[in-house]
Amino acid sequence: MTRLIVVSNRVVLNSEAKSSAGGLAVAVKAAVRKIPTLWFGWSGKLSEGVAGEVDVTRSGNLTRAVLDLPADLFEQYYAGFSNRSLWPLFHYRIDLTEFDCSGYEGYLKVNELFARNLAPLLRDGDEIWVHDYQLIPLARFLRQLGVKNPIGFFLHIPFPERETLTTLPLHEEIVRALSIYDLVGFQTDADLRAFHGYIEEEAAGAIQEDGSVTAFGRSFRTGTFPISVDTSAIEKGSEKAKSSSPCLRLAESIGDRKLIIGVDRLDYTKGLAQRFASFERFLTDYPEERRKTVFLQIAPPSRSDVPEYRQIRAELDGLAGDINGRFAEFDCAPVRYIKKQFAQETLFGFYRQSAVGLVTPLRDGMNLVAKEFIASQDPDDPGVLVLSRFAGAAHELSAALIVNPYDAAGVSKAIHKALSLPLAERRARHAELMEVLRTDDIHAWRENFLAALSAAARTDAAPRSVHGSRASLLSLSRVS
Ligand code: UDP
Ligand code: G6P
Repeated sequence: MTRLIVVSNRVVLNSEAKSSAGGLAVAVKAAVRKIPTLWFGWSGKLSEGVAGEVDVTRSGNLTRAVLDLPADLFEQYYAGFSNRSLWPLFHYRIDLTEFDCSGYEGYLKVNELFARNLAPLLRDGDEIWVHDYQLIPLARFLRQLGVKNPIGFFLHIPFPERETLTTLPLHEEIVRALSIYDLVGFQTDADLRAFHGYIEEEAAGAIQEDGSVTAFGRSFRTGTFPISVDTSAIEKGSEKAKSSSPCLRLAESIGDRKLIIGVDRLDYTKGLAQRFASFERFLTDYPEERRKTVFLQIAPPSRSDVPEYRQIRAELDGLAGDINGRFAEFDCAPVRYIKKQFAQETLFGFYRQSAVGLVTPLRDGMNLVAKEFIASQDPDDPGVLVLSRFAGAAHELSAALIVNPYDAAGVSKAIHKALSLPLAERRARHAELMEVLRTDDIHAWRENFLAALSAAARTDAAPRSVHGSRASLLSLSRVS
């Protein structure tokens, strides 16, 4: 049987671990549960000076191989180029993007380090699946080391339109590095179109009728593979979680009020400031709802070394305080804002108790919380999802109440509508959404991607090696 090699920066380290806040790690863990997999990535630890040894542990079908990264390189790679240049740019926040890309050299070096440490672990017949924006140049380094196995790449975040992407001086290097893969997968057709747009208009490449792409002297495949959740496991898990202690305590504290829930990493892309403003608007527009609703926002802190994340954190503290200061009574407060990570099983129970799920990112590759919220509902009495049109999930979940997260009045109206929908309509919408999630679950995502990767590798006429010295690879690093 073919062995799957998954490579990602973030690895769920221990099968006993509660969970990891972040869609990639959660989804990959669920996707590979049943098949022999080697999951390679960062150990979560930093070393001084040089990289650590690869630490390999095995549990059942899953072998983890992780690496400590040198602190100085990690800073450039993670808090630098990945999360101050690529992340904001790919989420259309050119106002937050660091354009001088000072971390790019470290970004390349960490990718090269990953390649050097992964290559000796590979066998003939392995299929390599690389994940997300932190590792775009990995295939190039693997090919340079003589690795001939099929290599696919999946981008978990949006791919920006050409006009946005080309604001980054390094745009060509980034897309050129993607062209080394046999298959490049995106979350939505809009992302795929944006990529094809770049190839045709900027790189003088061509899109063939069969969907393959020719550019930079290479031919490779592209496709859309919307990531998803383990629908049936969540259905069972949320039913079971109902009687867990946190869920019982939540139910008791809410009483007969209706719960509105949001769950997001504390990230400026999630639209939390706008969401708080929309909720405040809802309390203003519908004063009769003030004593009847509670808004629970769970937001585990993320990437605290990046200044923009510290700023949004401080801003939200102020906003949550302002709303409660304005609307709380001596016996009830409208907002519960919790900057703490919860186990997924607990979240599933919380979703099931909620009348409304508020998922209103300003831009999001997919947003798994939206899908988890739906899969957690009681089909006989389901809650309603209010979903941003700018989340990848909105492309599939059109039976949710779709909103513009910048439009506070519109979101306020949608919250009110969600709270007032008749049971029959809630059931009908939920059934329609569940049909999508049952067909396109996390297992279908993995199967579809890997089938496309095998097909791409079979038909690929392009050479599986990249010639060039280390110096020429690093010369990819900025044209100075
Ligand atoms: N999550 C979690 N505990 C928390 C908050 C979030 O386990 O306290 C999980 C959540 O269930 C989801 C993932 O983290 O599976 C977040 O994925 P999503 O795609 O919504 O956003 P991302 O963080 O990847 O941008
Ligand atoms: C998003 C990204 C992932 C990342 C996750 C958590 O889902 O697409 O690549 O792992 O956020 O962020 P972190 O920086 O903590 O890994």
